Amino acid sequence: MKYSKFGLVNTNQMFQDALHGGYAVPAFNFYNMETLSAILDAARTTHSPIILAVSESALKYMGNDMLMAMISGAKIKPSDNIALHLDHGSSFAACKHAIDLGFSSVMIDASAQPFSNNIDITRRVTDYAHKFDVSVESELGTLAGIEDENTFGTDSTYTNPTDVEQFVAATNTDSLAIAIGTSHGAYKRTHDDAKLRFDILSDIASRMPDFPLVLHGASNIPSDLISIINKHGGKMQNARGIDAAQLRHATQMNICKINVDSDLRIAFTAAVREFLSSHPDKFNPRDFLNAARQSMTRVCISEIEHIMGSANHA
Ligand code: G3H
Ligand code: 13P
Ligand code: ZN
Repeated sequence: MKYSKFGLVNTNQMFQDALHGGYAVPAFNFYNMETLSAILDAARTTHSPIILAVSESALKYMGNDMLMAMISGAKIKPSDNIALHLDHGSSFAACKHAIDLGFSSVMIDASAQPFSNNIDITRRVTDYAHKFDVSVESELGTLAGIEDENTFGTDSTYTNPTDVEQFVAATNTDSLAIAIGTSHGAYKRTHDDAKLRFDILSDIASRMPDFPLVLHGASNIPSDLISIINKHGGKMQNARGIDAAQLRHATQMNICKINVDSDLRIAFTAAVREFLSSHPDKFNPRDFLNAARQSMTRVCISEIEHIMGSANHA
């Protein structure tokens, strides 16, 4: 099914606009009606372009038909500037499956493979995706909890800037996720003075000034929401994320897409825990799911306005 039937767009124009406008398009992960509608409400309130990200496991959780029925029911218009994106596609088959369903963008993540395999798999995906005008993101480097030293030795996890031009030319990828010190999940780097490696980002940007780059593992992990979780029975003592000022700085460089999943999970969990512990008599799931939805929308709006800078760019 062609994605334009769902009112979706691919990410090519939105990334060029973001690159030249000094902001990033948020990619928020969703996995049910509440997460999807929270993200769409935030996009519509702020007039921000949005990437609706679906991991392979989230796709399995929702089911193909239910997912695409929700997308259809969302009545998205091309002027909303919304992409449906496969997050961390692990194989050509997974990417093809998403493209055939009606996704407008896919990520092929073969970053754990040797460089030449990563090129071959990514190239296979771009050859297929581009036939349908679907945009492709790929990845070089490995995200890790605590990054290693400033070298690009065999065990280095940062993206090596000298590999980037060759990789992009050989694969025809439309954007590239790079490793500059972010990591997935709610327990990021442990050094208090941890800084993203803007020197690596600058080096890549100077080699490829018009090429869109992507930051994964970029949740901010709001401390107020972590406190709510911990106050109401949760145990997330050492949760910590990426500093908002560093993320903003990245958006003003060549980072055109910032991926956020954990912050919405935290917003959801904080709202449900708080609601249930303050209303022990209530048992209608719509009550606490609505609180969760509103909490996620608030986080999306706040990040669009204070981190991404993408408001009013739909
Ligand atoms: O980067 C990965 C996302 O956070 C998706 O995670 O596979 O648990 O949906 P998931
Ligand atoms: P976080 O775990 O920091 O939200 O990262 C999400 C992500 O990169 C999804 O691809
Ligand atoms: Zn990711």
